Amino acid sequence: MLQRTVTGREIVLKPTDTIQSRTDTRGVIQFVNPTLIRIAGYEKDELIGAPHNILRHPDMPRSVFYVMWQVIQRGDEFYGFVKNRAKSGDHYWVFTRVGPRRNAAGAIDGYSSVRIAPHYRKYLDEWEEIYARLRRFEAGFPPERQCTEGARFLSEYLAQQGYRSLTDYVMRQS
Ligand SMILES: Cc1cc2nc3c(=O)[nH]c(=O)nc-3n(C[C@H](O)[C@H](O)[C@H](O)COP(=O)(O)O)c2cc1C
Repeated sequence: MLQRTVTGREIVLKPTDTIQSRTDTRGVIQFVNPTLIRIAGYEKDELIGAPHNILRHPDMPRSVFYVMWQVIQRGDEFYGFVKNRAKSGDHYWVFTRVGPRRNAAGAIDGYSSVRIAPHYRKYLDEWEEIYARLRRFEAGFPPERQCTEGARFLSEYLAQQGYRSLTDYVMRQS
């Protein structure tokens, strides 16, 4: 059982902090850089071999990761704002890029991510609000429908504002 208690305290990344990780095709961590270890507060050994949801913060809606996996599994790059949970229960916001890695034959053999401090902190309140609305919406459905219904809600929300995808929307703010 993953530890999900939270403190409500934020760790604010410095503009020079770049967090990197690599996973296999299922999202099991294979590589983490020293910045990830420092900010998330885990030992390297606790992270290598662990599923990447070890960093999952309970405020993050399920459907955001569902959309992320759809995008990267079809071979595209995903961009988004993610609230992660450190081992202490503190949280940190990142602007994240996740994308596929390919072997010599061109097949996807894992994924990598790069995360930096969100450039404009003024958007974080909006993300807190969007994610809270999404979580409330998801909670109205049985677990097996939460991701698809949440993804539909998110794409309708973005379409109303003239954006075709989460990446389109996020790029406006990066
Ligand atoms: C390269 C890569 C990096 C990821 N980084 C994060 C991350 O920083 N935080 C996070 O919560 N999930 C991250 N994920 C997504 C997790 O694998 C997982 O889908 C998500 O935490 C939801 O997990 P759950 O549905 O089991 O709760 C990443 C996945 C990949 C492939």
